[in-house]
Amino acid sequence: MNIESFDLERWQSVHEHQVEINLSESGVHPLRLRELVGAGDLEDLLEQELGYPQTNGTIPLRERIAAMYDGATAANVLVTNGGSEANFVTCWHLVEPGDEVVVIQPTYMQIPGLARSFGATVREVWLEPRLVDHAGQSGPGGSRGPADGLRSPARWRLDLGEVRAAVTPHTRLIAVCNPNNPTGARLDEAEVAELSAIAADTGCWLLADEIYRGAELDGRLSSSAWGRHDRVIVTGGLSKTFGLPGLRIGWIAGPAEVIDRLWGRHDYTTIAPGALNDRLARLALEPSRRQRLVARTRKRLRNNQAIVQAWAGEHQTVQQVPPEAGGVTLIRYAGSRPSARLAETLRAQQGVLVVPGIHFGLEHHLRVGIGGEPDPLHRGLARLGDLLRSASGPLASETSPTREH
Ligand SMILES: Cc1ncc(COP(=O)(O)O)c(C=O)c1O
Repeated sequence: MNIESFDLERWQSVHEHQVEINLSESGVHPLRLRELVGAGDLEDLLEQELGYPQTNGTIPLRERIAAMYDGATAANVLVTNGGSEANFVTCWHLVEPGDEVVVIQPTYMQIPGLARSFGATVREVWLEPRLVDHAGQSGPGGSRGPADGLRSPARWRLDLGEVRAAVTPHTRLIAVCNPNNPTGARLDEAEVAELSAIAADTGCWLLADEIYRGAELDGRLSSSAWGRHDRVIVTGGLSKTFGLPGLRIGWIAGPAEVIDRLWGRHDYTTIAPGALNDRLARLALEPSRRQRLVARTRKRLRNNQAIVQAWAGEHQTVQQVPPEAGGVTLIRYAGSRPSARLAETLRAQQGVLVVPGIHFGLEHHLRVGIGGEPDPLHRGLARLGDLLRSASGPLASETSPTREH
């Protein structure tokens, strides 16, 4: 099996703990253990046996996860080691050589990489930036500069007609990341319903990676694909919205029979979550704590987005479609410098780590994390601004492509 390089993860794995300012992170600044565990919980925790827990996740944890999906029970949930294992196990189960997988792009590149490694052909449908004028009408575009007073890029939109057209009799799976990494776009209820209807009408599966659900800047919880029909699988976890990536707790929510089959795959991957992680995850998802964590995340994202927006407003050669949810934003920059070269220069010369857009197949963009501390964000953006000023012309004209493969 030929496994393609997961460039985004490689780039972060190699550099993220060595740089002065890490803006490559896609979640929110992690909690410390003491912020999660109250003094009253401590004695209890010290009694935790460090054996194998229930291998598909303890019942109390699965019940707490199920409580986030209308009508779900513990039987609809498999606990995994991170959202990445959830996606892996699902793709491993569903995708066979010769299948086609429709992937909404840009996206976290795990699923397309896995699908190709498992012998499938990936058909891409791209989110596009839309311009919205003052009357609220949208049209294609996305490349006017911020100085344009009439219209500004407002949202990344999905053309659902294109998704339907991409499905063929060989399509096994439609994969979407919603809310989306790297754009911060969020599909609305009608769009999630239509996406799920496309899968239902054509007999293929819908895999919705919803690990950013709950991290909405405006506080409106994103619609989930969960439970819309018996070929919908949702993945999630504690790493992004809840600020607990070090717990390595993810999950799959789906029909009970499918969850059972996926559990059989998980026997082959990691067997079980860590006992302590399962225990701490139960604490984190206790309803009042869960709400506190979500509120912390949303506040942080709003504050940091204001910093990015102010910075972008001061730089005529960058453009941002404001993120609706999630821990990251895409910055489009003027000029023709390849994003990998720009990101490497920024890292090597300025000590700032961002993710080059090319890791998502999207040239002339950089992905910047907005979940961290405000001070490094300010400093990192200032250095990025200096670098861009030293080497950029105006943004490309409105008709130029926003991506290059
Ligand atoms: C959309 C998406 N899904 C899954 C993951 C992996 O999550 P985890 O760290 O819980 O394995 C990431 C990590 O960046 C992600 O962005």
